[in-house]
Amino acid sequence: MTSPQRIHGGPDALGVPRFDFSTNSNACGPCPVALAAVQQADARHYPDASYAALRAQLAAFHGVEVQRVLLAGSASEFIFRITAWVAQQGGRQVCLPPHSYGDYAQAAQAWGLAPTNQPDDAQLMWACEPSSPLGATQARLGDLVDELGATATVVLDRAYEPLRLNGALALTDAQFQTIWQLWTPNKALGLTGVRAGYAIAPLGAEKAVAALEQLCPSWPVGAHGVALLQSWVQPEVQAWLTESLQTLRAWKARQIALLQALGWTCLPSGTNFFCARPGQALDLNRLRTAGIKLRDTTSFGLPGHFRLSVQPPVAQDALKIALQTGPSPVFTNFEGEVTMTALTIRLPNSVHESIKLLARKDGISVNQFIASAAAEKMASFQTLDYLRREAALGKREDFEQFLKLVPDVPAQAGDALSSDIDTLVKTRNKKP
Ligand SMILES: Cc1ncc(COP(=O)(O)O)c(C=O)c1O
Repeated sequence: MTSPQRIHGGPDALGVPRFDFSTNSNACGPCPVALAAVQQADARHYPDASYAALRAQLAAFHGVEVQRVLLAGSASEFIFRITAWVAQQGGRQVCLPPHSYGDYAQAAQAWGLAPTNQPDDAQLMWACEPSSPLGATQARLGDLVDELGATATVVLDRAYEPLRLNGALALTDAQFQTIWQLWTPNKALGLTGVRAGYAIAPLGAEKAVAALEQLCPSWPVGAHGVALLQSWVQPEVQAWLTESLQTLRAWKARQIALLQALGWTCLPSGTNFFCARPGQALDLNRLRTAGIKLRDTTSFGLPGHFRLSVQPPVAQDALKIALQTGPSPVFTNFEGEVTMTALTIRLPNSVHESIKLLARKDGISVNQFIASAAAEKMASFQTLDYLRREAALGKREDFEQFLKLVPDVPAQAGDALSSDIDTLVKTRNKKP
């Protein structure tokens, strides 16, 4: 049997996409307090191998006994570890949600568990809510937990719970006691490069916890991961997250309206990402060359759709322009295949040397570097044209109408103009 391909969103051989719709990381991030904590992490020493303080903090945050908290190198690491443990216990079958994170299936295949869609036959059942790629609730989750919680290992992946924009999980406290919960705050905090996660074990699963600790190498979480998880439980970090959800809701409404106006069908979701189907075939390579990355959902079993995380207006507008401008004759032919034109260009030696250095640092070729620099420049010119076109449609009266909606209240403390500037503005605005 061939291995399923590991496909992930995010950086690739071309480096970090300028406008990355392909990962579900919180686009308001990184959370400043968490970022500062990670940057100040003391990497000179091993972390405490028992992670005593960190586990106590996470236990208090979730209101569970400390013995129930297991640290993991990342959610992905834990997915492989718990699959290995189920296989070690003699498990033969795994039940996955219909469209789900690829590592569940990868781990199952690595450990010889066969997928089944009959939950009763499975020794390991994965649930994920809100789900990826759909950002949806999982059908009959409560019933499945009731049916299987006592007999099978049920793991609820809560990677996107902190990024839920509407709805709520419908499980009772009693149901939570019978399942494993998997948490990975790096997405919510916009710090996916920091690898750290944790699981909360079901009540009375001491033997399983001990076995899973045995299967884990020493120090699964490094100093930066410890810093991330410690900041995760801080009230100011949670307050930042709550505020970011408001922004994400507004950006999401704008992004959906923009795509719908371009003929896309957007599927409902309750998260900072959603799946959508374009009205016509999409050339992902061309978009990628222009610095824009989307996630094709074919590998999730949803061909013809793309998963898009909610991004700020500037990224949305770049996407709109790229979708409207059509294929570039330099990079694609009429079938939408990427084609190349060989050019000889003359560069000052100093520029060439700097490009070589930067390209090597990013692990890409000089050719890729120049192609993506040219594509970015092109996008910025096209953005200017687009903004000029949009500006030409604007009306002074609309602008004034809009300004009138701003409440006439005194400026907030610290935000007032100094009296000098005040006078300057008044003089400048005085009609001759
Ligand atoms: C549903 C889900 N669970 C887990 C993960 C992996 O998280 P981590 O970054 O902790 O490996 C992902 C990654 O995208 C995911 O989509």
